[in-house]
Amino acid sequence: MNVVVYPGTFDPITKGHMNLVERAAGMFDKIILAVADSPKKKPLFNLEQRVLLAQQSLAHIDCVEVLGFDCLLAEFVKKHQANIILRGLRAVSDFEYEFQLADMNRKLAPDVESIFMTPTNDLSFISSTLIREIAMLGGNIDEFVSSDVASALKSRYLQQSNA
Ligand code: COA
Repeated sequence: MNVVVYPGTFDPITKGHMNLVERAAGMFDKIILAVADSPKKKPLFNLEQRVLLAQQSLAHIDCVEVLGFDCLLAEFVKKHQANIILRGLRAVSDFEYEFQLADMNRKLAPDVESIFMTPTNDLSFISSTLIREIAMLGGNIDEFVSSDVASALKSRYLQQSNA
């Protein structure tokens, strides 16, 4: 049985991430979307909110489980008896960091393979940072995120502007 862990900060999950999960769902028995605590990134949404938004956005896919984690990725993968780490590669600029991450994870968990998927062309320019920025400035993000994420971003920035 191939259990894949797809890790990231998902602050918030975008249609780029969702597209990867939808396509991977046809290839593996189970996908665990692993939402990293990532305190250094000072996420807009806390871990619990990011997990909930990912669960809502992926509710239409049966073989996906969304879990938060605040330990080493290699430990998380072993604990959940997964054998593959999945990452998305959007552009050449992603490559150097991903190469380093994959090498380090191979050192820490030699039995686990890292694999990469590219997004479909119409989604390759999306990043969570850009989505947050567009939402903060009142732009339309409906095309790039699920309706649950769009509502959460709109109410978050409405709260901030009223504060
Ligand atoms: N579509 C659209 N955007 C995508 C994407 C896709 N398919 N895949 C990644 N991105 C974007 C994200 O939105 C994010 O954009 P942002 O930086 O503008 O917010 C960016 O690419 C990269 O973020 P993400 O995929 O969330 O990765 P990350 O660098 O935040 O996460 C971890 C890296 C969580 C995997 C890594 O920090 C980790 O493993 N942490 C656990 C602790 C650990 O084990 N550390 C040692 C590692 S060897």
